[in-house]
Amino acid sequence: MRTRFKDKVVVVVGGNSGIGLASARAFAEEGGQVVLTGRDPRTLAAAAAEIGHGAVPIKTDISDLKQIDALMDTVKSRFGRIDVLFVNAGVGAFIPIENITEKMWDDVMNANLKGLFFTIQKALPMMGQGGAIVLTSSIAHAKGTPTTSAYAASKAGVRSLGRTLAAELVGRGIRVNVVSPGPIETPIINRTAGLPAEMIPAMRAQMIEHTPMKRMGRPEEVAAPVLFLASGEASFITGEDLLVDSGLVNF
Ligand SMILES: NC(=O)c1ccc[n+]([C@@H]2O[C@H](COP(=O)([O-])OP(=O)(O)OC[C@H]3O[C@@H](n4cnc5c(N)ncnc54)[C@H](OP(=O)(O)O)[C@@H]3O)[C@@H](O)[C@H]2O)c1
Repeated sequence: MRTRFKDKVVVVVGGNSGIGLASARAFAEEGGQVVLTGRDPRTLAAAAAEIGHGAVPIKTDISDLKQIDALMDTVKSRFGRIDVLFVNAGVGAFIPIENITEKMWDDVMNANLKGLFFTIQKALPMMGQGGAIVLTSSIAHAKGTPTTSAYAASKAGVRSLGRTLAAELVGRGIRVNVVSPGPIETPIINRTAGLPAEMIPAMRAQMIEHTPMKRMGRPEEVAAPVLFLASGEASFITGEDLLVDSGLVNF
């Protein structure tokens, strides 16, 4: 059993489902004191119970800055510092340009980009030398796929923040890296805006067909590179974007 995160305080934002849950579980198994967040109190409590190892669930909607403040206040009073910040929360949207309303645009940007940015900003006072930040973008930042304009723009923003903040924080000894998954088998497909339930099987089949390995990835296959980037093994890596996509972008 590896112990790369022994005695580390690891905050997983969006840790109650899919990629975040797999990562939170893996951080805890490697000795991390995990704090996991999400919006749904039911899945959040279930995730913390399943992870065990003293994982602490804190309900937070990161599109509300006051809730980010409350999250950081709680982490500060309980643990006093953050060693690893994994900002993974995000929502999907497959909507043709004509149908995107201002609210839809804001919902995607507030969760995926604005919430992510202010989560980092508000966590930084608790982070220092040796700290690691990992952000979840998507291969959407590198591909032009019809109906993904708002989502892809938000994820391109995440990739850009990873580069800029890495440069801004390198002097403080804090590394910032990005993971960009391809199609991964998680609940996101069932709650993507603009994707009706009856279209999901065809969409899944299309995704698999376009994937070089002809399958969806597993959340654990994203968690492993997340843990690598967050660990001391990646001590000379910052500003990087790691594609976890079976070669989809490069082939
Ligand atoms: N699955 C894929 O194919 C894929 C591909 C590329 C990138 N990604 C990205 O990977 C990340 C994780 O997605 P997933 O596939 O694991 O999907 P998921 O199972 O739907 O998980 C999404 C997570 O984000 C949280 N979340 C969403 N909006 C939030 C908000 N406003 N405030 C706080 N938490 C919020 C959810 O919490 P609640 O459940 O409580 O709402 C949940 O924990 C996302 O950023 C997604 O864009 C996924």
